[in-house]
Amino acid sequence: MFDWLFQKKTPTQEQNNIQVVEDFSNIQSLAEYFKTLSGVTFDKQLSILNSKAKTFCRSHNIFSYDMLLEKIQTDHELRQDLINRLTTNETFFYREFSQIEQLVSLVKQERQKIRILCAPSATGEESYSIAIALLEAGVSSSDFEIVGIDINSLAIKRAKEGLYRERNLKNLSYELRTRYFDQQEDMYALHQNIKNLVSFYVCNIFEAEFQNLGKFDYIFSRNMLIYFDTPTKKRAIEILESMRKDPEKAIFFGHADLF
Ligand SMILES: C[S@@+](CC[C@H](N)C(=O)[O-])C[C@H]1O[C@@H](n2cnc3c(N)ncnc32)[C@H](O)[C@@H]1O
Repeated sequence: MFDWLFQKKTPTQEQNNIQVVEDFSNIQSLAEYFKTLSGVTFDKQLSILNSKAKTFCRSHNIFSYDMLLEKIQTDHELRQDLINRLTTNETFFYREFSQIEQLVSLVKQERQKIRILCAPSATGEESYSIAIALLEAGVSSSDFEIVGIDINSLAIKRAKEGLYRERNLKNLSYELRTRYFDQQEDMYALHQNIKNLVSFYVCNIFEAEFQNLGKFDYIFSRNMLIYFDTPTKKRAIEILESMRKDPEKAIFFGHADLF
């Protein structure tokens, strides 16, 4: 178990006056673990994974990937920190807006209250964009419910806070900014009544709890599958399809997701 202590690698860290030896050679096992856990593949980006994971390990006094893999079996906070470090949460308001417009026109034809899922939501911009676009089109807030989920707990925390930088609002007009946000120095705080329209949860689409969210009328799953390999994409699509109320309704994927 403590083989990593004795391997002949560059000694770089000192713990309680004991010189310890780092061994970050086993990147492949970390990549496989992370793909099985989250779906995210680093198969073609092992050097990026190595650089991020090494920095992560050093900041947690962990000296090898074997040690990291052993620790995260029982330390769930550490495992969540690793997920937060290795996922990419880039998003912004009114991204690929034509799909949101399509959704709005579909919702306007509905006769009952509808449920919309954003999986993944990242920091909330997509879910809130849908809420804003529906309100702008005259849909009553009592006629829809939006759920946003993401595997990254920091992203979900930020989504719930609803505090955004200028660059996240780059696609929003001056009118929309002033109607839905309060400017606080260089940040924009989303109004509470819009925040109330979305429920956010930390959730991994490959875990059973995801299906406990129930079925949805419309599903957005944009810019997550791009991080998955082909078999994992297929598995994710099957799971997402099983969450539809009506199997005839298409899921909204991002333009690059299905290649
Ligand atoms: C680039 S963001 C996309 C956000 C938004 N849908 C958009 O298109 O702007 C990708 C998100 O997928 C999330 N993600 C990756 N694997 C996931 C999984 N297995 N379950 C849930 N979320 C996941 C990441 O944490 C990240 O926030």
